[in-house]
Amino acid sequence: MNFSKKIILVLLLFAALFYGYTLPKPVKSGNVDWRIAGGTKLSNHYSALKQINTHNVKQLQQAWEYHSNDADVQGSSQIQCNPIIVNGIMYGTTPRLRLIALDAATGEQKWMFNPELYLAGRMSYGVNNNRGVTYWEAGNDKRILYCAGSNLYEVNALTGEPEKDFGNGGWIDLHENLELKNKNWYVGATSPGIMYKDIYILGSRVNESAEAAPGSVRAYDVRTGKLRWIFHTIPHPGEAGYNTWPDKDAWMHLGAANSWGGMSLDERRGMLFMPTGSISPDFWGGKRKGKDLFANCVIALDAATGKMKWYYQVVHHDLWDRDPPTTPVLVTVTRNGRKIDAVSQATKFGYLYVLNRVTGKPIFPIHETPVPTDNALPGEEVWPTQPIPTLPQPYARQTFSENDINPYISAESKADLLSRLKTYRYGQLFFVPGKQTAVAVPGFEGGAEWGGSGFDPQTGLLYINANEIPYISTMVESRKRPAGEENFASAGARLFARNCISCHGQDRKGSGSYPSLIDIEKRSTSAQILELLDNGRRMMPPFKQLSTQDREAIVAYITSDQTAGAKKYIADKTPDDPYLEIPYQQAGFKKFETLEGLPAISPPWGTLNAINLSTGKIVWKVPLGEEKSLMDKGLPITGTQNFGGPVVTAGGLIFIAATKDEKIRAFDKRTGKQLWEAKLPNAGYATPSTYQVNGRQYVVVACGGGKLNSKSGDAYVAFALPK
Ligand code: HEC
Repeated sequence: MNFSKKIILVLLLFAALFYGYTLPKPVKSGNVDWRIAGGTKLSNHYSALKQINTHNVKQLQQAWEYHSNDADVQGSSQIQCNPIIVNGIMYGTTPRLRLIALDAATGEQKWMFNPELYLAGRMSYGVNNNRGVTYWEAGNDKRILYCAGSNLYEVNALTGEPEKDFGNGGWIDLHENLELKNKNWYVGATSPGIMYKDIYILGSRVNESAEAAPGSVRAYDVRTGKLRWIFHTIPHPGEAGYNTWPDKDAWMHLGAANSWGGMSLDERRGMLFMPTGSISPDFWGGKRKGKDLFANCVIALDAATGKMKWYYQVVHHDLWDRDPPTTPVLVTVTRNGRKIDAVSQATKFGYLYVLNRVTGKPIFPIHETPVPTDNALPGEEVWPTQPIPTLPQPYARQTFSENDINPYISAESKADLLSRLKTYRYGQLFFVPGKQTAVAVPGFEGGAEWGGSGFDPQTGLLYINANEIPYISTMVESRKRPAGEENFASAGARLFARNCISCHGQDRKGSGSYPSLIDIEKRSTSAQILELLDNGRRMMPPFKQLSTQDREAIVAYITSDQTAGAKKYIADKTPDDPYLEIPYQQAGFKKFETLEGLPAISPPWGTLNAINLSTGKIVWKVPLGEEKSLMDKGLPITGTQNFGGPVVTAGGLIFIAATKDEKIRAFDKRTGKQLWEAKLPNAGYATPSTYQVNGRQYVVVACGGGKLNSKSGDAYVAFALPK
């Protein structure tokens, strides 16, 4: 081999080594953007900035605080948005889902776009939450796309004016282009779509009851809003996966399997990665027998055409609402001395699935493991195995026994838990849902949640915050239409059981993120509740699909209105759709709590974890968040339930808010040691962003509160080192 050939070989080897490996971008002295919700298209929440670092982070100070003045304190409004920063301008959303552009160095508002002006008579402002917005530019043409309610909007990024050539004059109704059995079924989107060249790819949020729209994923032309492609997550005849369905008509009747957790993109390979949710309804699967493809999957699509490249199902025939809730993170791992591009999918149940990015094959062995199938409810066929990863190590506890009972409670409270446990089933991750109450650990809100995880190309560590709050699951029989006559009160009770108890509970007391409806008549008029059922509000879906009579009957029932309740209910003559007749349902999302209102399990209740993705081992784990009432009694830090993800920087830091204690913190990314914290005006249930303007690095977070009984706020707060 001659010399020049040798050089070429060395160069080729070098290229091969770094091919596909994401090098941290060099840091310029002027502006450094956080251009995409999730930091980069890899969704690794990573920034190469290091002006703020482990040595000086203690000096961080508030640089500015912005208020949008549209918080809804009574209705517990939130801001879940991970703002983006492009050329010194920050784009984010407010509690009422207005889109704002701020000077990212001062917090001064440049413009505000109000989607309510485009909603006349269609959908209310507040339906849904928003977790981010999407930027696109070609030369001087700069645009922002985002979803509020059932609409996708596109506005000029410099002026905040709607882009008139897009869709219906700046917006598209997400009901368009979907095969909907009922045009009033809810469709929205919480997570932002992602740009591939000039197409905008978007998932959706739909109902979790049987009345759910299909979860098809759509790609739009960024200039015109024209549909470029659609991917059916429940395959149609002739499409891959269709033959796995025992019921050949299921695709026409079933809904959901929607991609709500956000998307990542391998731009060079033109590959899109997304998770899919469960098929609705969640806890009884008699109308969706089989594995339920492509629900509960990580899916890789050709971003240009929407054609599927591979899929990996993380839960077969889901009976636990265990849809993968986070954006898949594109990572590079080292196995047997070789660098492999992979995708890491976090789950609500504590397992991390690490798959080869190109083939979808597991990086660590995953075994199809037998799970309990006996004593299933009539009509149910529990899938006999589930794919259990040997590694990485689970980042949340997955079982519960008497030994795990919260030690910080009274003797009376402990006796109460022990007597309840005598009647409960516990200790199984994949328990069979039934009338006998089962303890779900991790609970229905994770494990991981929608905040996502961060990956550091420098350390090869994945950073993930988790919840360890147990829930209980009790199945009840759905109420059937009686043969005889009904009045509004009895029809209302029946319709409430069918449509509302999955969130508000059979006892109407709510739990977790869902408010109690006890004494609702003291807080709201019947007209206000009817308006709420018509339009929905944030995570409360609208019930437009119900007739006016049905909605009035429900309101008569929940307000205990004697006069309205005595009215005669006129039975609907149309036969019920058999696919919508669900014989069993869960009696509400219920936390398993002590008499004091604390989690029944011992702490930690919230954690931050660092996992080495090349070895699969947890490198460190620390409690995240303080429960003030317990700290005041001198107890150690317990962690709290948390929502919103971490940011990881080349400065050696993890920034994360997410906790109930209304704080933002910085941790040393190598050790997990806390280096800094600051009090926020409201809880920051959102992922922070970091960026640089005119040579100064900032960290910003939305402080919207609202979840977990925190007070609602309307702020974005930015921090920087003193000038
Ligand atoms: C998917 C979960 C879900 C379902 C199903 C659901 N709700 Fe709600 N509901 C919520 C959430 C979340 C809120 C809080 C909304 C907010 O952010 O303001 C709420 C709020 C409410 C409120 C206002 C409570 C207050 O104190 O102001 C009423 C009334 C209500 N729901 C009634 C109903 C009725 C009646 C049904 C059935 C027809 C129903 N909900 C079904 C999630 C749900």
